[in-house]
Order: sequence, then structure tokens, then C-alpha cells
Amino acid sequence: MKKDHPFGTQAHMHTADMEEKKFNETSRKHYMKGGDGPDSYSRNSEFQKQVLTSAEDLIHQQIDEHLNIQNCRFDPLNTFRIADFGCSIGPNTFYAVENIISAVKNKYEKSNQNQTPDFQVFFNDLIENDFNTLFRNLPSNRTYLVAAAPGSFYDRLFPKKSINFAHCSMALHWVSRIPKEVTERGNNGKIHYLGGEKEVKEPYAAQYEEDFGRFLTARGDELVDGGLMALLAFGFAEGDVYSLSGAGMVFEMLGSCLEDMAKLGKFTKEKVDSFNLPFYFPSESELKALIEATGLFCIEKIAKMASPMSHKPDLKGFTSSLKAVLGVLIEDHFGNGVVEELFGRLLEKVLESPILSDEKYWKDTNYFVFLKRNGVN
Ligand SMILES: C[S@@+](CC[C@H](N)C(=O)[O-])C[C@H]1O[C@@H](n2cnc3c(N)ncnc32)[C@H](O)[C@@H]1O
Repeated sequence: MKKDHPFGTQAHMHTADMEEKKFNETSRKHYMKGGDGPDSYSRNSEFQKQVLTSAEDLIHQQIDEHLNIQNCRFDPLNTFRIADFGCSIGPNTFYAVENIISAVKNKYEKSNQNQTPDFQVFFNDLIENDFNTLFRNLPSNRTYLVAAAPGSFYDRLFPKKSINFAHCSMALHWVSRIPKEVTERGNNGKIHYLGGEKEVKEPYAAQYEEDFGRFLTARGDELVDGGLMALLAFGFAEGDVYSLSGAGMVFEMLGSCLEDMAKLGKFTKEKVDSFNLPFYFPSESELKALIEATGLFCIEKIAKMASPMSHKPDLKGFTSSLKAVLGVLIEDHFGNGVVEELFGRLLEKVLESPILSDEKYWKDTNYFVFLKRNGVN
């Protein structure tokens, strides 16, 4: 792993290193609030759903352009295998895979291939993810076979050359751990690197480089030659301004709510100082450099998508979604019984903030990245 330049060349890790990383993985609490209750991710993921909706047509266009049907026909079982990485508990993942299947079917029809394949969908997420809710809520009219693939997507999850289409939406910004440099030196009372010091940003960037490199290497093994991969990723473009970033401002307010609660003796100040959000938001050039460095994929498309909040910020929805996303992690760090109060306070601050209801604060960037595994076209 090159330490001097976080976006230098991507390093392929030795197996022994990977085993050690696996062992040290701290992402166990990076899963969403399960169940079907009012606070669950399944009922608080409209924000993420809108990102999928923005990508719907792009997925169709890219599959139409880049899927090689002749290549798929080599499968002796005539099965088209799709994996959704970081699928959570639904319903967004069902929407995503149904869109992919409809695009693949269209391509088959256009190519006069009357024998459409069986579709098999693998749902991947961390072992602790609420797979029971996911499988209980599978659409009854689905036209695909299903299986779970639990485990970190930073590791290998499937046999070599077994997956035709990999998909990952709104999940790759979760780094596998907080970099040691940040936990050791602290983060000046902040809970996030955005808008912070270079000494904090760089280790986050290096962690992202390592994690994303592992993700790409694993998917490179698993995809068939010519296999396709769509990534919808939270990002932060070179020109994005932190003080105009709605998400960044909300993280800032979350940090100040934690400080307020520490002052009231709900937990210690040290607890707040040692809390860091495990998120990194790459720029387009960072993504490109890391993908190209693996030499495993051809970048068919990389494009900015608008933030779902850029037209009409839904601050209440965003705060509830953040609670479903971060609740487990926060409870693990600060103890049981703090989440309700914390997010109640956050909602008050967010709604009172004159800036956040202004669209100009929600220009945050999401990227659509479409890749083809090198090999047979
Ligand atoms: C915000 S949710 C997105 C869920 C879904 N893709 C969507 O668009 O609604 C992020 C998901 O990534 C999962 N995740 C985070 N780190 C992961 C990892 N290392 N391996 C597998 N899943 C991971 C989380 O458990 C969570 O379910």
C-alpha cells in the first residue's frame, strides 16, 4: 500500500494482508435499522430511492449498449446472475434489480433471442443486516430466483467469473474502519473530515483507496469476462464547496447536538471526541484514478447525478433517513437510549436553519459509474 500519495497507484494487497484486514474489520455496526417499524431503513430510504430513480434510464442505456448477449449464451445453465452489493433490507434493492432485469430482457428481445435466461439475484450486505425482513418482503410477483450473500463487499463473496452484473448503490462511501491516524490524533472535536484539516482528510482518502481497491479487485475476480458493473456513489466533486454542502452542514449540526448532550451529562465529552463518521466522498478524478489503476475494468460511463435534495430539500425525510442509517452505529458508541433524543435535537436544528431549506445548499454530487470487466467483449 503506497502511503505517500493517497491517489497514486492502487496496490493489490497480498493475501496475508487481506486476512489481517478482514480480522481487523470494524464495519460490524455499519448496518441499517432493521424491521418494518416507523424508524426502519425500509420506511426511511426515500432519499436513496430517488438516486436509483435518477439512474434508471442510464442503466437501460448502458445495458443496451454494452451487454454482449452472445457472451451470456455460453452459460450452460442459461442463467444471468446479478449481485446487489450493500442491498440493505429493501425495498430499494428490489427496485434496482427489477430495473436491471427489465433492461436485460429488452436487450434479449431486441437481439431476437427468444430464450431469455433465468435470472438469479444475490443480495449482499453485512452479516448483521436484517436479511429476514429483506426476504419476507420480496415482491410476490418477482421473476427472479434469490439467494443471500452475506459478508463484507470488501472481500471476495462469489466464485471466479460467476456474476454477470454487479450493482452497488449508496454504499461505497462506508469505509471499513476509521483510519488509525484519526483515532490516534483526534479530529479537533469534529465528527467528520469534510471541511476539516488535511491531516484528517488524507488518512480517510487513503482508507478509501484501500477499501475501494479491495472492492474492485474482488468484483474483478467474480465478474465474467465482459461482465458489467453499475456503481451509484455519494461523492464530493473538485468544485464542491463544503460550506454549501447540505450533507456536510447536517453532519456539523449532528456533531453540535452530540456536544450539547455531552454538556448535559448524557455521555462524556471524550465519547464525542472519539466518534468519527466512517464516510468518505470521492471526487470523479479519484474514482477514475482508482479504477484505472486496477487495470481490471473499462470505464464505459462516469457522470454526475443531481442530489435528490437539489430541487426541493426534504429536511425531515433526510433527518429520518440519517437516523435509520446511523442509529445502530451511534447506539453502539454512545450507549442505548440516546438515538431518539439526538435525532429529535438534530431535526429541530435542521428545521431552524435558514440555509438548509435553500436548494443551493444541496448541490452535493452523486456519481453514476458504469464499468465493463476487461476480457471478451
Ligand atoms: C445507505 S444503505 C444503501 C442500501 C441500498 N443499496 C439502497 O440504495 O437503498 C448502505 C448499505 O451498505 C451496507 N454496507 C456498508 N458497508 C458494507 C460492507 N463493507 N459490505 C457490505 N455491505 C456494506 C450497509 O449495511 C447498508 O445496508
